[in-house]
Formats: sequence, structure tokens, C-alpha cells
Amino acid sequence: MPDDPSYLQPAPLPSFGLEYAAAPESTAIVSIAERYQLFIGGQWVEPRSERWFTTTNPATEEPLAEVAEAGADDVDRAVTAARGALAQWSAWSGRDRAKVLYRVARVLQERAREFAVLETIDGGKPIKESRDVDIPLAAAHFFYYAGWADKLGYAFPGRRTRPVGVAGQIIPWNFPLLMASWKLAPALATGNTVVLKPAETTPLTALLLAEVLQEAGLPDGVVNVVTGAGETGAALVAHPGIDKIAFTGSTEVGKHIQRELAGRDTRLTLELGGKAANIVFEDAAIDQAVEGVVNGIYFNQGHVCCAGSRLLVQEPVAELFLDKLKRRLDTLRVGDPLDKNTDVGAINSRAQLDKITELVAAGVAEGAEMYQPQCALPEKGWFHRPTVFTNVALSHRIAREEIFGPVLSVLTFRTAEEAVTKANNTPYGLSAGVWTEKGSRILWMADHLKAGVVWANTFNQFDPTSPFGGYKESGFGREGGRHGLEPYVELDDLVAT
Ligand code: NAI
Ligand code: MG
Repeated sequence: MPDDPSYLQPAPLPSFGLEYAAAPESTAIVSIAERYQLFIGGQWVEPRSERWFTTTNPATEEPLAEVAEAGADDVDRAVTAARGALAQWSAWSGRDRAKVLYRVARVLQERAREFAVLETIDGGKPIKESRDVDIPLAAAHFFYYAGWADKLGYAFPGRRTRPVGVAGQIIPWNFPLLMASWKLAPALATGNTVVLKPAETTPLTALLLAEVLQEAGLPDGVVNVVTGAGETGAALVAHPGIDKIAFTGSTEVGKHIQRELAGRDTRLTLELGGKAANIVFEDAAIDQAVEGVVNGIYFNQGHVCCAGSRLLVQEPVAELFLDKLKRRLDTLRVGDPLDKNTDVGAINSRAQLDKITELVAAGVAEGAEMYQPQCALPEKGWFHRPTVFTNVALSHRIAREEIFGPVLSVLTFRTAEEAVTKANNTPYGLSAGVWTEKGSRILWMADHLKAGVVWANTFNQFDPTSPFGGYKESGFGREGGRHGLEPYVELDDLVAT
């Protein structure tokens, strides 16, 4: 590598004093009810708990709707409904189950704009992401697993498949509709019935999805939606009528669930936190790598379990890379999630903003050097500036703990071995990114990185055909791809006649 050749130096950004005009997406397509009941046995029912909670728009702090908070009685009712629907649904032919799932996928496409706007209002993510990523991928998952429903014999050659039974599925707030789709599509394709528990800050798209499932002809009771917070989730986990729990969320709650299920005949998959390394070698295409690193950590405000929250950059290019990265940060547009030009939207909740703020303060206190663009933030709503920390030590909290916000911690390395050691020095193991021109190095790195997904010269690419999941404290079990069917089937040997 030549020493910092001048042509690699970032050119000063042109400054014409121009700004993007506001480009807000209309919300007219969405109608939000004042109150949402529980969806049980194909009916909207009052919560027996008689309790309700409020879901809020994190970009405005305005309340959106009252949502039923399911208590243990309500969860019991939902599990009973799912149990009651199991014999009928699992007896449907794979072809008939596929038809329903295809219909769900097509309705999601037809109503994509409505779902995207609702997702953004309830959760704070930029409209361009809910529109271009969350909703199309949710539809793609239903399409993909619809395709498997009548081909399970090919997925598991020589075996006969049976559904596991009633699945309790608990999902987080960072990709509400997408996580519902990741969980529902394989479960339904394989003939299981479900009780779904959306996250308390983002229940609205899952409730709209319940409507779509019904419209698509899913029999009553096959999917039941119980809204509520941790207590509702805990009641679902504790219910003896559940055959399988699928959980995506924090490592802390995941460990708790695993302890709860110890000694019970309940299957479990956990998709938990991460602290992924995005590793940039000196021969990487630097500008592309800058874009990839920005996408890796500022996509969805960094509320991404596989976010590239640690940048490992090789020493010879570290200074150049950081210069370019900071310049790129200065151009990120932070603000109204409904604006089509917004890159970084609202932090999902006040509690999450407090957590990010606390960890950022710890980074400063422990001696790391902080950089933030001085962009204006909206006066109302929960927002956080994109943040980069340099001079980070492996022992710093910001290098070890999942921040789940738009905060990047930068470390440097000299050799590939050192990069691997540093990247693997975490209790997590969900994803990693490698940026280099050398194919053999990509393969060597992929072999040595302890991560469920390793992206090469890209980041945060998702596809329903590709399995996703973790190692170590990032959890176990895979979602997506043929592997994603496994948690939802019992396999019997076909006896030779
Ligand atoms: P959380 O793990 O509490 O929430 C995830 C889901 O689990 C929600 O639906 C919640 O209602 C439910 N839940 C909470 N307690 C439960 C319990 N005892 N039994 C069953 N279900 C329960 O995550 P939270 O508190 O919203 O976020 C805290 C941190 O967790 C974040 O700052 C982030 O670091 C991490 N997180 C990671 C996610 C991932 O995709 N890996 C998603 C959400 C949060
Ligand atoms: Mg909300």
C-alpha cells in the first residue's frame, strides 16, 4: 500500500447551502383504532385482565392507541384456541396451507404502503426502511415458506414430518412485522398453530397482520395474538400447553426463558443480542466499506441484533477511513421517520434512549473519544445523534455491551489473526462483516469468525432462503431457509416396507 496517496484523501464536500425539502409520506392510508382487543380464536375479544396499555409514536411522543394487555387467563384462552385448531390445521394438505400463505404474502404486497406507514408511526424507523426492507422482506418470507409447505418431504428426505404443536412466539420491537413473519411463516407452513406475543412498544402491525391472516382464509384459532409486555410473555412461557417457544429479544430475557423451560418438554429457539465486528482490511474498497459500515450500524438507528457495532479497521488505513466515515456521518439526515429522505429515525422508546445515553456517557467516562455530527434534532420525540467512538479499548463497556443504538466503537488491528481474536472476543456470535479484495482472505476469515452469519463486502443483507442465527450468547436455532423449518417439525423415520 502506498502511504496515504493524495488521490485517496477525501475531497472537501461541496457546500452550496442547499437542503432537502421536506418529503413526508402521507399517513392518510392508515387508520388507527382507539382501542385494540386481543385476537383469539378468530375473534377480537376483551381482555379478561381488564388492563390496557398505550402504544406511542416515538417520533412525536403522542399516544396512538390503547392496546389490550393479556393476563395469564387471556394467554390460557389463546393457548386453548391454538390447541383446538391444531388437529384441523395440521390435517390440511401442504398444498392448501401453501395457498393461504401465498395469499398472505400477496395481501402484504397489496397493502405494503399501509403496513410501512403504520410500522414507522408505531416504531420510529425511517419510512424508506419500512417501505424498502421490512415489508417486502415480510412478504418474501411468506412466499418462501408457502413454497415449502407442500414439499416437506424434500426438505427432510426419507423422513415424515409432523408439526410440533402449539408454538408460543415472542418478538421484539426492532422489526415488528418482519419478526412476526419470520416466526409465523415456517410455523404455519409445517402445520403448527401459534400464540404470538408482539412487543409492547410496537404491537400495531402484528394486529393488522391478524386481520390479513383472516382475510387470507386462515382458519380461526390457528394464529392468536396476545398483546402485552414482559408479564404477558412470561405467562406464555409458563403455560404448560405450549410445545415450543421461539423468542427474539434480549440475552437477559432469553436466559431467563431457558431457565424457565429447564426440565419441561418444550422446544426452544433463542435469537438474542450481538456485538458484531465489521472488519476492514487495508486493501478494501474504502468508499464502499464506509457505506457498508454506515449501513451496518446506523440502519434502523442501530436497533439491530446483528448490527456492525464494532468497527475493526486495519492500521494503515485507519486514519483515512475514519476521516471519510466522519464526513459521511455529517451527511446523515436524522429526524422525522415519515420523511422519505430521513436516514436515521426515532429511538424506539424513552427507555431505550436512556440506555443508549447511559452507555455513551460510559464511553466518554472510560476515556474513548466521541464524534457526533452537529445536526439539529427534532424538539419532540426520542432521537440520538449518530455517534462514533475512537480510542476504544476492548475492556470498555462500549466495546463489550450491546448498545442497540446508533453508536459505533472503533478498534484497530494489524494482522488477520489479530482481527479474528478481537472480533471473537465477545460473549456474542451473531454476525460479522469482512471487507477485503482478497477472496482467499474472506474464506479464511469466515472459517475463523465465530458468528452465525459472515457478510463479505456487504452487510445487513437478508434473504428468506438464507438461515440466520447465533452462537454462544446470541442464542441457538436458525430462522430462514430450509433450516428454519427444523424447529417446527418432529421427524419420523419412514419404515421400509
Ligand atoms: P426484551 O428482551 O425485554 O423484549 C423482547 C420481547 O420479550 C418483548 O416482546 C417483551 O415483551 C418480551 N419479554 C420481556 N420480558 C419477558 C419475559 N420475562 N418472558 C417472556 N417474554 C418477555 O428487550 P427490551 O427490554 O425491549 O430491550 C432491552 C435490550 O435488549 C435492548 O437494549 C437490546 O440490547 C436488546 N434487544 C435485542 C433484540 C434482538 O433482536 N436481539 C431485540 C430487542 C431488544
Ligand atoms: Mg409504539
